[in-house]
Amino acid sequence: MLADVTISDIHSLGKPKALEILGQIARVEKKTFPSSEVFPFGEELWRKKPNTRVLYVTWTSQQTQPHSPLIAYAVYARQKGVAWVHKVCVAEAFRGKGVGTRLMDHIRARLQQEGCQYVYLWVDKARAHARSLYLRTGFEEHEELPDYYAPGRNAIKMVLGFERGT
Ligand SMILES: CC(C)(COP(=O)(O)OP(=O)(O)OC[C@H]1O[C@@H](n2cnc3c(N)ncnc32)[C@H](O)[C@@H]1OP(=O)(O)O)[C@@H](O)C(=O)NCCC(=O)NCCS
Repeated sequence: MLADVTISDIHSLGKPKALEILGQIARVEKKTFPSSEVFPFGEELWRKKPNTRVLYVTWTSQQTQPHSPLIAYAVYARQKGVAWVHKVCVAEAFRGKGVGTRLMDHIRARLQQEGCQYVYLWVDKARAHARSLYLRTGFEEHEELPDYYAPGRNAIKMVLGFERGT
């Protein structure tokens, strides 16, 4: 488990810092996903799309001070009682240390607090770590869509439902 991890929202930053973080996210995104699945982390995500939240995770260790490197990020969009998680990613060197779990728990708590009723996402069936992370966060696997990402690469729709009053 990684200590000294901070989860922040780009909407709480001034424009120059927000654009710097979005640039760092875009670089990790490009390294991680095939080009057809790269999410556009453009300037419009800051301020112009208030329903779309970009969260980023930094890690401060004695070695990295005063610079805290970006180690993970997530994107979700919420409209009234429904949210869609579009992206969750942990930089390769930091995987398997509980960062993804912390980030998903954070999103879950925040959406629940905001009165969200259902959270949806699509996940590549072959991404076993991602699927088990989402199951651990409380999502359930629903329908499967064949060839969603590419021929032979199926997607699974996952749903997290918050019961009213909990
Ligand atoms: C899926 C992902 C977000 C999980 O984040 P994480 O911080 O590695 O997850 P956690 O450490 O909280 O969870 C522990 C899991 O990591 C696994 N793990 C351990 N070492 C690992 C490593 N080097 N790389 C990946 N996963 C590892 C553990 O086995 C455990 O998996 P399990 O739940 O299947 O048992 C991360 O692996 C990732 O970014 N993958 C590439 C992008 C991706 O698939 N995103 C989701 C689809 S949009």
